[in-house]
Amino acid sequence: MKKVFVGLVGFGTVGTGMVKTLIKNREIIESRLGASLILKRIADIDITSDRGVHLEKDVFTTNVMDVIDDPEIDIVVELIGGYEPARGYILRAIEKGKQIVTANKALLAAYGNEIFSAASQKGVEVAFEASVGGGIPLISTIKEGLVANRILTLFGIMNGTSNYILSKMTEEERPFSDVLKEAQELGYAEVDPTLDIEGIDAAHKLTILLALAYGVPIDFGAIYREGISKVTPLDIRFMKQFGYRIKLLAISKDDGQAIEARVHPTLIPEKSMLANVNEAYNALYIKGDIVGNILLYGPGAGMMPTGSAVVSDLVDVARNLLNGIKIRVPLLGYQAQHIKKRKIRSIDELVTQYYFRFSAEDRPGVLSRISGILGEYDISIDSVHQKGRDTTDAVPIFMITHEAKESNVRQALAEIDRLPVVKGQTMLIRIEEGLS
Ligand code: HSE
Repeated sequence: MKKVFVGLVGFGTVGTGMVKTLIKNREIIESRLGASLILKRIADIDITSDRGVHLEKDVFTTNVMDVIDDPEIDIVVELIGGYEPARGYILRAIEKGKQIVTANKALLAAYGNEIFSAASQKGVEVAFEASVGGGIPLISTIKEGLVANRILTLFGIMNGTSNYILSKMTEEERPFSDVLKEAQELGYAEVDPTLDIEGIDAAHKLTILLALAYGVPIDFGAIYREGISKVTPLDIRFMKQFGYRIKLLAISKDDGQAIEARVHPTLIPEKSMLANVNEAYNALYIKGDIVGNILLYGPGAGMMPTGSAVVSDLVDVARNLLNGIKIRVPLLGYQAQHIKKRKIRSIDELVTQYYFRFSAEDRPGVLSRISGILGEYDISIDSVHQKGRDTTDAVPIFMITHEAKESNVRQALAEIDRLPVVKGQTMLIRIEEGLS
């Protein structure tokens, strides 16, 4: 049987998932590929810890160049994560003519243009199925399965950690900090959870999806981003009564003129499918102009799901090699000459419904001051609720608006928050009604 030689850089959780998959499903993978994937070398700083897999000792090295510079190795898999030295290793491997498989969304979101351009010039693949949505085949779905479609909208739950925290806050009505601490203890959240809870990881993933969906260059800076740390049980409980759930959504919309691209906590109807994606699961709701609506759902992280995605890339790349094809599908789904900048709308231009929670003294005239300012900025109130009476302590005032323009909302809230009767910063959560 023919052989395709693979080298792995980074033998952590995902690397272990890849190796376990190759061992467990060797036969079925060979029967589909028509060749053997031979894991020739693994480079890691730690080559002694037991990962529960048995491999020959001479497979391991602490020197990454033993993998990259090995002339027999066809495919280099980068699973160390982060920017450097991962970027340097990938560029060097490309220079050496290796095919690349990576799960590194942060790297692709920051340096994707450089990496994809180097790979195109050299005529090698950079496959990255595991970078977005863990085990869910999102990348191949957009690049290949939906090739006939214009992608009109994407709504994604792209970060398992945030989804886990929001799910627990919703089910158990517990504060963010409490649930985060528990998530860290259970290993669902990192010791430094910033990337996950501040929406950065979800924005990295949306950056990659935007390039695939719309043929735009990779541009992380164009994505508006807010995290979940300001969401309180009060917001969750109140909006539950009105049939909404809060999710950290990665959203993109293309109306043909410009693209919206944003990551923020979002109120969505409780009956929508995304509202019922709980725990650490991920999902991507795609609206294509030909196919209609599609929902892809599954484990967005974890050793074996992500290992499954990495091996799918290995097989894909190996098929090209075995068939003498350089790059079958363009790396980002579009031919290079068709990758063009498009207008990405500023968040100020957004028009949507809003939820506000003001914290204000319960005195005559307070509500009329607030609604007066909103009126001046053309923001129309759909409903308003207040609990509490005759107190100089702040009480929450909950409000849902009709569609309003974000720039107006920001100016109005800045003015409202300066009123002496208003205490602290008003909470704002955007609402997306159009989800089934
Ligand atoms: N930190 C990511 C998440 C996992 O919480 O979803 C892999 O991207």
